[in-house]
Amino acid sequence: MSQTRIHNFAISLDGFGTGEPQSREAPFGHAGQRLHEWMFATRFWDAAGAAGADNAFAERHAPGIGAEIMGANKFGPPGWQDDADWDGWWGPNPPFRTPVFVLTHRPRSSIEMEGGTTFHFLDATPAEALEEAARAAGDLDVRLGGGATVIRDFLREGLVDHMHLVQVPILLGRGVRLWDGLESLEGSYSIEAVSTPSGVTHLTFSRRRS
Ligand SMILES: NC(=O)c1ccc[n+]([C@@H]2O[C@H](COP(=O)([O-])OP(=O)(O)OC[C@H]3O[C@@H](n4cnc5c(N)ncnc54)[C@H](OP(=O)(O)O)[C@@H]3O)[C@@H](O)[C@H]2O)c1
Repeated sequence: MSQTRIHNFAISLDGFGTGEPQSREAPFGHAGQRLHEWMFATRFWDAAGAAGADNAFAERHAPGIGAEIMGANKFGPPGWQDDADWDGWWGPNPPFRTPVFVLTHRPRSSIEMEGGTTFHFLDATPAEALEEAARAAGDLDVRLGGGATVIRDFLREGLVDHMHLVQVPILLGRGVRLWDGLESLEGSYSIEAVSTPSGVTHLTFSRRRS
């Protein structure tokens, strides 16, 4: 059966998945690129990058994935719904190469991009969105791509099978927090942690079979 997976989602020590304010010039707000410097140094991101432990985790992002679900604020900066030409941050050939379901209260027609990515726009509950994405993924898994709000909502509904977080040793102080309203979440998952020389800690949450 299709699994719902999260990979490479970076949070600060104080649990923020992005800074503020989000804008076209600064998609992560005052966090800048600090949540992802560990990833930019990997071969997953850059052919000249390192092939160590961070890379081994990062590379798990794509294999076995047949669709992605993301939130409106990952797809674009505040107000993108007013720009009829906005088709995401990633250029004409986005890296997803699968159907991508963008959750938004202001859906629009689907956009077919180069390389196998098609953006579909859904105003739906997490369970409904997952049903649609799983159908599109066929035998493959669905990746939940973020941001923090969407991941928190899916965790709260018990819809996440596997979550890989990367805890980055910075304190953002403000932004969008992942953990609010998820008290005792740890009881539903087997959790492992691996710290790497770059200073980040990879946390994997695998849903317990009860
Ligand atoms: N740390 C990381 O690794 C990582 C990864 C990916 C993204 N990010 C960053 O995270 C930030 C975005 O996260 P976020 O928490 O602000 O927002 P988000 O989770 O991307 O999107 C939340 C928005 O999606 C729409 N939405 C959510 N659920 C919906 C539903 N069930 N039905 C209809 N619409 C729904 C709503 O927007 P509307 O009401 O406006 O439609 C909601 O405000 C960006 O800065 C992005 O760059 C970080």
